[in-house]
Amino acid sequence: MGTQTFTHETITDDKGRQLVVKVEGLQKYFGKNHVLKGIDLEVYKGEVLVLIGPSGSGKSTFLRCLNFLEDPTTGEIRVGDVHVTCGSHGGGFKKDVHEIRMKCGMVFQEFNLFPHKDAIENVIEGPILVKHEKKAEAIRKAEMLLTKVGLGDRMDFFPSQLSGGQKQRVAIARAMAMDPVLMLFDEPTSALDPELIGEVLKVMKELAEGGMTMIVVSHEMGFSRDVADRVVYMDDGYFIEQGPPSEVFFHPKDDRTKRFLRHILPEKEPQHAKELGILEVDQELPEPEAVDGPPQGAAGAALNEDNFQDTAIPEIPLSQGPAGETPLPPGDEKL
Ligand SMILES: Nc1ncnc2c1ncn2[C@@H]1O[C@H](COP(=O)(O)OP(=O)(O)OP(=O)(O)O)[C@@H](O)[C@H]1O
Ligand SMILES: [Mg+2]
Repeated sequence: MGTQTFTHETITDDKGRQLVVKVEGLQKYFGKNHVLKGIDLEVYKGEVLVLIGPSGSGKSTFLRCLNFLEDPTTGEIRVGDVHVTCGSHGGGFKKDVHEIRMKCGMVFQEFNLFPHKDAIENVIEGPILVKHEKKAEAIRKAEMLLTKVGLGDRMDFFPSQLSGGQKQRVAIARAMAMDPVLMLFDEPTSALDPELIGEVLKVMKELAEGGMTMIVVSHEMGFSRDVADRVVYMDDGYFIEQGPPSEVFFHPKDDRTKRFLRHILPEKEPQHAKELGILEVDQELPEPEAVDGPPQGAAGAALNEDNFQDTAIPEIPLSQGPAGETPLPPGDEKL
C-alpha cells in the first residue's frame, strides 16, 4: 500500500469545523507488546482534548505516534492536510512524516531544552534550522512568544538559571515558534513543584483561548474541567470513553472509567481527585471484569458538580473502543 498525500485539502464537518487530526485504526506494538490496539480519533480546529488514564495505558505512546516520534505499526494518521498510511515506508513516507512533525508542537514532562543555549536561542533554533527562517525574523517572533508566556525579562537566561515552571514556559514558546497546527502536551506539569504548576496551566489556558488545537495528557483535573472540550479516557491501549468533561468526569458510562475516577485516581493522585470533588475511595464498586450488567448508577465516591462550568462543545461520536484482539502485524520497525 502506498503513502497518500492530499495537499491543500481541507476537510470540514457539517458544522463547518475544520478537521485538524484524523486517526484511524492506529496500532502500535513494541516487539510483542501490543500497546495501542486500534485508536480512532477526530480533532477539530480549536478543540482542546485531554487524555487521561492509568499508567501504562498508552497515553504517551499515542502522542508519540501521532507525531512519529514512534513509528506506528499500522493505521492512518492525518494532521492538517498531510495523510500518512502507517507501516508502509515507501513512496513519500519520510517527507510526509517530516511534514507532520513540523505541524505538531510537543511539550514534554522534562522540558527537553538545550542546556547550553539561553531561552531565546532555544526558541529560535527550530525556526532557523528546520524552517530556514531568517534570524532577525526568528528573534522577533521568539521575543513575542517569550513575552506572551511571561518571560520577557528572562530571554537571555540559561535553563539552569530558570525554575521548572519557567523552563516549561520556554518549552511552550519553543514549540509555538514552529507555527504548529496542533500542540501536544505530555504531562507538562507533573515534574513541577506544586507552586509552579499554575503558571504553566495559565499559559496553556491562554493558548487554548487563542484557538490553538491541543491534545493534552494530564491529570490536572481542574484544568481539564475548565478548559477541555473533550476528555478521553484511555485504558489498555483503547480509547474507552470520551465526551465533555461534565459527562466523563461526573457521569462516566464505562465501568473502567468509573473505576479509574473512583479508585485509582484517589489512591494514586489524591490531589487531582480532590479537584473533581472525589474525596473517598469506594471499596464497593466492583472490578470492571466482574461487571456484566447494568451500570451501578450513583455508586462510588461522591462527585461534586457544584460550581461546575460546562465548556463543552456538542458531543462527538465515540471511537470504536475495544473490539477484541487484533492480529499481530509484522515486527516493530524504528524510523
Ligand atoms: N520505547 C518503548 N519501548 C518498549 N516499550 C515501550 C516503549 N515506550 C512505551 N512502552 C510500553 O508501552 C506501554 C505504554 O506506555 P506509555 O508510556 O505509553 O504509557 P502511559 O499511559 O503514558 O503511562 P504513564 O502514565 O506512566 O506515563 C507500557 O507497557 C510501556 O512499557
Ligand atoms: Mg506517559
